[in-house]
Amino acid sequence: METTVQTDTSGLETRALSSALGVEVLNIDLATSGSDALAPAFIDLFNRAAVVAFRGQSLSPERLIAFSRHFGPLEPHTDFEHLLPGHREIMLVGNVAPPCGGQPFFHNAMEEWHTDLIQTQTPNAATVLYAIESPPAGATTRFIDARAAYDALPQTDRNRVDAMQGVYDIVTFDNEMRRQDPHRPPLTEEKIRRNPPVSHPIARTHPVTGAKSLYFAADIIARIDGMSDEESRSVVDGLLSHASQPEFVYAHRWKDGDVVIWDNRCTLHTATPFDADKYRRLLYRTVIAGETPY
Ligand code: SIN
Repeated sequence: METTVQTDTSGLETRALSSALGVEVLNIDLATSGSDALAPAFIDLFNRAAVVAFRGQSLSPERLIAFSRHFGPLEPHTDFEHLLPGHREIMLVGNVAPPCGGQPFFHNAMEEWHTDLIQTQTPNAATVLYAIESPPAGATTRFIDARAAYDALPQTDRNRVDAMQGVYDIVTFDNEMRRQDPHRPPLTEEKIRRNPPVSHPIARTHPVTGAKSLYFAADIIARIDGMSDEESRSVVDGLLSHASQPEFVYAHRWKDGDVVIWDNRCTLHTATPFDADKYRRLLYRTVIAGETPY
């Protein structure tokens, strides 16, 4: 793969992370407020590249929050049990806690392609992960360029998906979560009432760039509106097998100090497993609030 370093008009030095998608920004220290002046360049790059990595960072929680806020207002996490103590904007992910305490959200799923909070009315626009400790093997995060996957569909298929709406409901979502964590507390009637089903287009238009992307979460979609369960499953499986072809996928191998931001409006992603009995993993996660997809 071509790894030429490019310098844009704002002076940002970048190089491609893969031939599929993703860009790494070089020679930037996000720990100081000096980097804040580059926010417009970061945003421009993010809108084009969809996955942007900054390696070798050493950030305080406040600096991670300040960096994340360049991309929009942060959505406070509602998952209180997994917060970094004292920081409602930062969720802990992994199998070890930081010295200040907290209980990370531990997941070790097999392939499970999704885009964050699609089961809600206003899914997250973007997600930031900051790697504090990374296992030497496994736990890569894989990303699909859902714009390229949409563009590569034959025109007749694009016309079909343009007319489709994916339906998400909390019961289907909870069933999938319980499959991964049998100790998950039961879903209450109150929670079902507070979270009515939502529909989102299977081909989403990006609110900033206008690009169209495939937009679905294969394991938690209840159905495609107007289709039987079997037909929905067959369509979703077909779209996923198209979108997850290697030419659309970048696999990020985490190193300590990596900060990666991705655009949930035009990418799908999946975690991959690691040997959690042998290795330590801890990431800090922030999410940028989104809008109703159209
Ligand atoms: C996620 O699926 O949002 C987290 C990705 C990861 O833990 O690798």
